[in-house]
Amino acid sequence: MKILAIVGSPRLEGNTNYLVDRALEEAAKLGAETEKIVISQYEVKPCLGHDNCASFKSCLQQDDTGWILNKFREADGVILATPVYYYNVSAQMKAFIDRNYFLYKHEQKYKARVVGIIIVAEEEGIEDTLHTLKQFTDEFGVAEDRIFITCGYAHRIGDARKNSHLVEEAKKLGKQMVESLKSESL
Ligand SMILES: Cc1cc2nc3c(=O)[nH]c(=O)nc-3n(C[C@H](O)[C@H](O)[C@H](O)COP(=O)(O)O)c2cc1C
Repeated sequence: MKILAIVGSPRLEGNTNYLVDRALEEAAKLGAETEKIVISQYEVKPCLGHDNCASFKSCLQQDDTGWILNKFREADGVILATPVYYYNVSAQMKAFIDRNYFLYKHEQKYKARVVGIIIVAEEEGIEDTLHTLKQFTDEFGVAEDRIFITCGYAHRIGDARKNSHLVEEAKKLGKQMVESLKSESL
């Protein structure tokens, strides 16, 4: 059972990364194979927008997105995690989302059967950000009760760590994702 987290925060020691680590730690404890990809650590360029993906064997943007998307498609569970930037996902996360258009245009499906969403804001914009991520994950066809969400408020590095409720919610998300996947085989 593989759970892959895609992280849209460029702050490696920041709040989003901290919460994702707690979720993955919990998932690993329960037997999942876990991996975290922080988008800013790789080259993930924005979509070129020619809308002609179907005519090409590979995306015209030659960067790290190809192999990241392969892992993303193959994972049993995916976590999408982002800080709120101007009432929505970060630019890194948006670039990643848009690059999924190539898969859509090639009718390549996702294996994910469970989804986790983690969002951190200083004070405002969680609803719109959640809307964006939920619209995107609709593509996966995952049942509503298999989508787990942790949202909360934190700003400076270390804020999330000090917010015990938020930390517990992130751990719960990791646990619920694994339990949901395990329940398939029952
Ligand atoms: C460019 C930028 C835009 C932001 N826009 C918002 C916003 O619209 N609403 C909000 O509540 N916080 C906003 N924030 C604050 C971040 O969401 C907050 O600091 C969050 O904890 C950052 O997560 P991180 O530590 O994982 O990087 C913004 C921060 C940055 C850098």
